[in-house]
Amino acid sequence: MTHIAIFASGNGSNAENIIRYFNVSPESRNRAAEVNLVVSNRADAFVLERAARLDVPAMYLKNSGFRDPDIILPLLKEYRIDLIVLAGFLLMIPPFLIEAFPGRIVNIHPSLLPKFGGKGMYGHHVHEAVVAAGEKETGITIHYVSEECDRGEQIFQASFPIHPGESVESVEVRIHELEQRHFPEIIESIIR
Ligand code: GRF
Repeated sequence: MTHIAIFASGNGSNAENIIRYFNVSPESRNRAAEVNLVVSNRADAFVLERAARLDVPAMYLKNSGFRDPDIILPLLKEYRIDLIVLAGFLLMIPPFLIEAFPGRIVNIHPSLLPKFGGKGMYGHHVHEAVVAAGEKETGITIHYVSEECDRGEQIFQASFPIHPGESVESVEVRIHELEQRHFPEIIESIIR
């Protein structure tokens, strides 16, 4: 059984969807993984409430805790974590953590990387930039995490055409739908 930790900073719709897939849904019995831990660098992040409601241990850790090997590594060991999933996590992952989990940290980004990635490109900023650039399509990228922001090896992309005159809000809604549809299955395919 693969033990997953989710790191998230905000709302947590992806985290909840992944927990439902691996821990809650009737089919979860047949899955080879479960979510054992949710950690947020924001004390007030809604993701903590979502996880607690679904009986997944959920905790707040200061930014400095994520950067301290003596804090984060024992925590992940305590929960026997094999795979870290970043779902709307806004801190850079420190090199020691990447070394401790080689090829076992996965992120989802709401654009077709390498386009609209890197510093400052998160959440609605991404969709605003995509629409302002007059892009004809957008989508999601699921990738391994490397030391360079949004540059790790890609695992999966899915896209859709942007309608003429489509609003940023509409693009954001459709991106979230795409994330909900694909992220858990891609995580499962990595594990297999
Ligand atoms: C998602 O769009 C994800 O791609 C990005 O941050 C957003 C998080 O949304 N990295 P949520 O917290 O899962 O609702």
